[in-house]
Amino acid sequence: MDDFDRFARDLQETIIKQAREYYGERVVEFWLNPRNMGSLDHPQAYARITGPCGDTMEIFLEIKGDRITKATFTTDGCGPSLACGSMVTQLAVGKTLEEAQAITQDVILEELGGLPDESKHCALLASDTLASAITGFLSAKSQGKSTGHALEDDASEATPALEKLNGS
Ligand code: FES
Repeated sequence: MDDFDRFARDLQETIIKQAREYYGERVVEFWLNPRNMGSLDHPQAYARITGPCGDTMEIFLEIKGDRITKATFTTDGCGPSLACGSMVTQLAVGKTLEEAQAITQDVILEELGGLPDESKHCALLASDTLASAITGFLSAKSQGKSTGHALEDDASEATPALEKLNGS
């Protein structure tokens, strides 16, 4: 290892150490090792939301009966948004749609051990994207529509929590 490599490694270790102190151990662990990241080719439910910070999250769900069997996410957002997307999808898998609707911002924050105030909205973006995917799925189902990609256009419809996120 040459001097530059050593410098880069030390710098990275310092940044990660500071991030752990600021955001917490669990957040940084989920941030550096995101779970369920990526898209699904044929999701039964999908939502895409851009938060007021300008970052976007997508959530893809595979649903069998009324149970979520697979959940994945993508985001172009911050480190905490990676942690929140990881946590919300991890929590959603295996739950019924009704149970998954109870995964709120507070639940994500609690499971992650909290976030600094200025990053709490990242958890709201994750919970709202999941809620929007489920709501879109249920609404399409009740109207007898096909689900999956057809829901993409519906994903921008604001849920009550999203309206809060957007400050309206
Ligand atoms: Fe935008 Fe975290 S700052 S999702």
